[in-house]
Amino acid sequence: MDKKIEATQFQETHRVDRRTRPVYHATPPTGWMNDPNGFSIYDGKIHLFYQYHPYKDIWGPMHWGHCTSTDYVSWDDLPVALAPDVEYDASGCFSGSALTVDGRHALVYTGCEEREHDETVQSVNQQQCLAYGDGVDYIKRTCNPIIPISQLPEGYQANDFRDPKVWEQDGLYLMVAAAKDNDGFGHVLMYDSEDLENWKFRSSVTSSDGTYGDMWECPDLFRLDGSDVLTVSCMNVKNSPRGFHDGFGVIACLGDMDWDSGTLDIKAIQAVDQGADFYATQSLLTPDGRRIMIAWMQAWHNFIKPSHQKWHGMMTFPRELSVVDGRLIQKPVRELEQAYTNKVREENIEVSGGAEIEVPGVHGRAIDMTIDIIEADCKSFAISFDEAPDRGMRFTWIPKENRIVCNRILWGASEHTTDLYAEQTILLPESDSLPKLRFLVDRASVELFINDGVTVFSSTFYAPLEADSIMFSADGTVRMNIEKHDIDPEKARSIRERTVSLNEKTEDQAGIN
Ligand code: FRU
Repeated sequence: MDKKIEATQFQETHRVDRRTRPVYHATPPTGWMNDPNGFSIYDGKIHLFYQYHPYKDIWGPMHWGHCTSTDYVSWDDLPVALAPDVEYDASGCFSGSALTVDGRHALVYTGCEEREHDETVQSVNQQQCLAYGDGVDYIKRTCNPIIPISQLPEGYQANDFRDPKVWEQDGLYLMVAAAKDNDGFGHVLMYDSEDLENWKFRSSVTSSDGTYGDMWECPDLFRLDGSDVLTVSCMNVKNSPRGFHDGFGVIACLGDMDWDSGTLDIKAIQAVDQGADFYATQSLLTPDGRRIMIAWMQAWHNFIKPSHQKWHGMMTFPRELSVVDGRLIQKPVRELEQAYTNKVREENIEVSGGAEIEVPGVHGRAIDMTIDIIEADCKSFAISFDEAPDRGMRFTWIPKENRIVCNRILWGASEHTTDLYAEQTILLPESDSLPKLRFLVDRASVELFINDGVTVFSSTFYAPLEADSIMFSADGTVRMNIEKHDIDPEKARSIRERTVSLNEKTEDQAGIN
C-alpha cells in the first residue's frame, strides 16, 4: 500500500482520545512527534507540519504529520503529508519549511537516504527536496533532489546537510540550511534560486566554534525590529556558558546581515529558552506583520513520558517575537485570550511562614496564570503544580541569588527512564523590579514567561489528568496579585469562525516566509 495512505489509516485507527492529550498545544494524534516543519499560512489557515512516526512512541522513519488552525489554539489533524517512499528520502523526510508559490503550497524538506555499499560500508546522504500541494495533498517533484550533495561545497559532510528554511526576498528565493564541516562544526549555509528548483550556493552565514555545541540544526533567519535574527538548534553543548544549559538547546544570534557576502555580523547571542525541553524552532510572518515562533517542547536528551501514554512529543504554544534593547522577547500569541474562560483575579494575597496555601479558584491543568509579586521579604517563594509524593513541578524563586530553581518529579515513567533535568536553574537578568511570572500550563507542560517574556523557560511534566492543585509557600513573606484563566480552545474556534477569515487577509501574502 501507498506509504502515505498507510500512515494516515494507521493514524485514524489508533487516534489517542483527544481528552487525554494537551488542550491547546499541538500534539500528534498517535505516536511520536519532533520538530515543527512547514509552519506557514496558506489558503487562510495556519499550517503546522511536524516530524512524525505514527507507528510507535519513539523516533523512526520520518513522515510529515500535518495539522491546521485558524487561531493557534485549536488544532485539526490532517492526513499525513509526506512519507519516506522514494529512493532519495527512503530513510526519512527530515525537517524543512513551507511557502506559497503561485497559489500552491510548496514544502522544502530534507530527503535522507542511507546507502549500503557492502556489508561494512554504509553512507548517508542528506539532500534538499521539494513537494507541491493544495493544503491537504502534496506531490513530490520529479526533479528532486533540488539541492543534491554534489552542490554541497568542498569541506562539508554529506550526512549532515539538512533542515532548509526558505523565503522570498527581493525577487529571489533564499534558503538557509544546516551543515557540518569536516572538522565537525555546524554551519548555516545560504543558497538562492529564481524558481525553487535550481539553486546556487551563496555563503556560510556563520558557524559554531564549539562554544554552543558541535552540529547546528534547524536554522531560521529573519529581520525583526531593526535586527537580523538567526536562530539555530545546537547539538551536544558542553561546559555551557552562564544562562545556557548543556545538551541540546536553541540560541538566537542578533546582528546585521551583509546580503552581498551572505554573512551575519553577530552582536549578541542569547539562549532562546532556558528550559531543556525546547528545540528546533521555526517561525512564520503573519499578514499583520507579527513574527511567530514555535518549537518542539522536548529535546533529544530527555524521554520522561509515562510508559502507558501512546502519544509522545508536543509543540510549544506559539510565541510572538520582538527585539527590545538588543534582546529577543517572547510572548504567547495574543489569540490565546480568545480562549479565556473562568477568570479568577485575587489581589494583595499574603503568603508567609512556610505553610503551603491554596488560593480559592486558582487551580487547573489548562490555564494561563500570572503572578505579580508586589512585595517580597523572603529567602524563597515557591509555586508547586500537582505536587504529591510521587510527582509534581515546583518553581522556587531565590531573590538573593536572582534565580528560580525548577524541580520536577517524574510520574508513571518506565524503569529505564532517567531525568537529566530533574533540577534546572533559570537565571534572571539583573533588575530592580520584582518578578512577574506568567505560567502557561497544559496537562503535560509548563511554559514560564518572566517579566513579559524577557526570560522564558519550558518544561514537560506528567501527572494524572485530574491532578490540578497549585500551592504557594514562602520562607518569609510575599504579597502577590494573581490572575488565572482556564483555556477553552472551542471558544477561540467559535470566535474565529464568526470574525473575518484569514483568507481575506492573506490574498497578497504569497511568498512570505
Ligand atoms: C532536529 C532534527 C533535524 C532533523 C530531524 C530528524 O531535531 O535532528 O535536524 O531534520 O530532527 O527527525
